[in-house]
Amino acid sequence: MASLPHGYRAAIIGGAGAIGGAIVDTLRADPRCGAVLSFARRPQNGESRLDLADEASITSAAARAGEIQLLFIATGGLIIDGNRPEKALSQLQPEMLQQQFALNAIGPALILKHFERNLARRERALVGVLSARVGSIGDNRLGGWYGYRAAKAALNQYLRCASIEMARARPNLVLAALHPGTVESPLSRPFRPEGARNPGILTPRTSAHRLLTILDQLAARQSGTFWDHAGAAVPW
Ligand SMILES: NC(=O)c1ccc[n+]([C@@H]2O[C@H](COP(=O)([O-])OP(=O)(O)OC[C@H]3O[C@@H](n4cnc5c(N)ncnc54)[C@H](OP(=O)(O)O)[C@@H]3O)[C@@H](O)[C@H]2O)c1
Repeated sequence: MASLPHGYRAAIIGGAGAIGGAIVDTLRADPRCGAVLSFARRPQNGESRLDLADEASITSAAARAGEIQLLFIATGGLIIDGNRPEKALSQLQPEMLQQQFALNAIGPALILKHFERNLARRERALVGVLSARVGSIGDNRLGGWYGYRAAKAALNQYLRCASIEMARARPNLVLAALHPGTVESPLSRPFRPEGARNPGILTPRTSAHRLLTILDQLAARQSGTFWDHAGAAVPW
């Protein structure tokens, strides 16, 4: 991350996920990076525990993290507790909609609430959050996936609000919503036809590399915007 000071420290939330893990690996391979702190709901590989549904675990993770110059939130879910995304209004269930909001919108907002104080104040700092293009209201032409789309749209609004508030105390901070592309992962697997070849699908490593490059290149005045993995702005 050439735009961050040498020895910068990074915290990845969801570091055991497909894209989150690739972000961790990419940063660990960056000679400029001083430390990569990885947090996961079910630690498997040396991560520290953090469950978005347990605010106390977020508070304690932030209390231990120290100052960071990069925060990357890579958590999220599409099928939650076996419930597939809705195709029609008749399939809406209040509990499913609430689960989508809890995981995809409220969880990342709580991360920002508790990790804000860890972000460097005077020097440049970066916050990347995995959203999804289907959360774009302006880009929605197909409908369906009510809960996931609405939760990601709510996430985007939280991010926009946070970027405005955080710019007051941290004028060099860049906060961006990011669409990672269609990426090979447990999240996307159930939606890919068995054995089908999809030339557009990205490996987590490629997506992670592209997203970090985009984040690295954004200026502070571009904080509070939404980008895809190819570097194109996504409408809200
Ligand atoms: N893959 C794609 O094609 C695609 C496309 C657009 C957007 N995205 C977005 O990219 C993000 C990452 O997705 P991915 O493809 O890397 O999927 P993934 O491998 O399933 O990663 C999601 C991660 O979120 C974690 N998580 C779920 N609930 C949590 C909780 N309560 N507390 C803490 N962590 C929790 C999961 O942990 P567990 O293993 O414990 O469940 C998992 O590590 C998501 O926000 C997704 O919406 C992905």
